[in-house]
Amino acid sequence: MTAEYARRHIERGARWGRIVNVSTDGTSGFATEVSYGATKHAMESYSRAAAKELGKYGITVNVVSLGPIQTGWIPEEMQKRIASGPPLGRIGQPEEVADAAVVKRKSQRQQFHRIMTINRMKTKPQKKPITAYHPKDARYEAMTYNRCGHSGLKLPAISLGLWHNFGGVDSIENARAMLRRAFDLGITHFDLANNYGPPPGSAEENFGKIFRRDFARYRDELIISSKAGYLMWPGPYGEWGSRKYLIASLDQSLRRMGLEYVDIFYHHRPDPETPLEETMGALGQIVRSGKALYVGISSYKPEQTRRAVQILRTLGTPCLIHQPSYSMFNRWVEDGLLQVLEEEGVGCIVFSPLSQGLLTNRYLDGIPADSRAAKPHGFLKPAQITEEKLAKVRRLNEVAQARGQTLAQMALAWVLRHPQITSALIGASRVSQIEDAAETLKNLTFTSDELEKIETILALSRAAR
Ligand SMILES: NC(=O)c1ccc[n+]([C@@H]2O[C@H](COP(=O)([O-])OP(=O)(O)OC[C@H]3O[C@@H](n4cnc5c(N)ncnc54)[C@H](OP(=O)(O)O)[C@@H]3O)[C@@H](O)[C@H]2O)c1
Repeated sequence: MTAEYARRHIERGARWGRIVNVSTDGTSGFATEVSYGATKHAMESYSRAAAKELGKYGITVNVVSLGPIQTGWIPEEMQKRIASGPPLGRIGQPEEVADAAVVKRKSQRQQFHRIMTINRMKTKPQKKPITAYHPKDARYEAMTYNRCGHSGLKLPAISLGLWHNFGGVDSIENARAMLRRAFDLGITHFDLANNYGPPPGSAEENFGKIFRRDFARYRDELIISSKAGYLMWPGPYGEWGSRKYLIASLDQSLRRMGLEYVDIFYHHRPDPETPLEETMGALGQIVRSGKALYVGISSYKPEQTRRAVQILRTLGTPCLIHQPSYSMFNRWVEDGLLQVLEEEGVGCIVFSPLSQGLLTNRYLDGIPADSRAAKPHGFLKPAQITEEKLAKVRRLNEVAQARGQTLAQMALAWVLRHPQITSALIGASRVSQIEDAAETLKNLTFTSDELEKIETILALSRAAR
């Protein structure tokens, strides 16, 4: 059946991360192929809705989504499911559109007789041509590289994560500028995950586009990581820690990024239901299959960590690294985890060391319109920016100034003071923030007086102020 062929064509396009646009030869809603006709109508309506909504962000949309959808305007619930990512569909940018599928038929009686893939959709010309990227020769001079646990791998003291500001709703040119500047400053490690966006998957897609153009020649100078653990697609195999999910998710990530392997693949969060042996077994299998060079775990508690590390050791795939949250405002790792990592010889890269921007000068005078807290999809909510926190931030800022540092720099130096911590994993919304972070390395030491002052400020409670 040609309609069936069309369906498979579209599905294949979606599965391989391509956005396909579908049209017929002028007729639609074929009586004999109601489901296809209905699907086509639904896809068109959703495309229009998405184009309108995302047009606000300057994104041109061509969407095809094949799924259990009905004729006419797609209900809100279904729109949410489609926007939440594969395999139902995703939102793309014009340059992603690879094919247009045309279904033709000769006469009313005849089935569709031909499906033809036609050329690339015409896309709007780039506003500015992208200049060629030549990384700075001096890129390794100022960065410090720390050994990751007892492994052979070294990571930069500052690494860059693509959780926010690299997704489909963000400017890809700003993302490109940040990645280029980071590499120029010796930041060789970029951290991703299957679900980074929004929409989920789009940070990996954008990274893939930038990588192909700017970084492919420097693949062997880069440490690229991804993760799976959070919700990525509907149904029982789209999240947590089964072998089924982890392996399928990494395959999808590799396709989105256009990579043959990642350097580090993480289990993103502990799964209370799947046996740890299965999850760790999947990580071991992934390394043996060559799809990742090393594996790690994220947000595992101290005792879970010890067990996971031991299982991985018996599999012959040592756990390279743990990725926990850690900052002046979030100190859970000090309560056992760092000790386990030291005893087991596992490295540690800490995420959100700036508490998503709170431990910087960003919110000293209110919530800026371009900040994470002001964005509808930002993970930092205005309610988290309490007066109590801000009072501490102001005092910490004074300590930082006395050290001749920005608050962000002091917050990064403070997490890096532990010998067990290999790297501080920052996020950024602009090049200047990455430059600010790189300057941290000029002053990583604290006097005991400074450390005491910081402890006193962090211990301040509402009542004590
Ligand atoms: N394993 C996990 O479960 C997990 C969870 C979360 C994150 N991560 C990883 O950790 C990475 C970092 O997380 P994060 O983005 O929350 O880290 P973060 O460094 O604590 O926060 C980054 C935000 O702080 C602000 N900022 C950064 N540098 C600044 C500077 N010099 N001056 C002023 N403001 C500055 C920016 O906010 P504005 O955007 O407002 O400018 C930036 O987006 C993620 O990208 C991801 O790779 C992992």
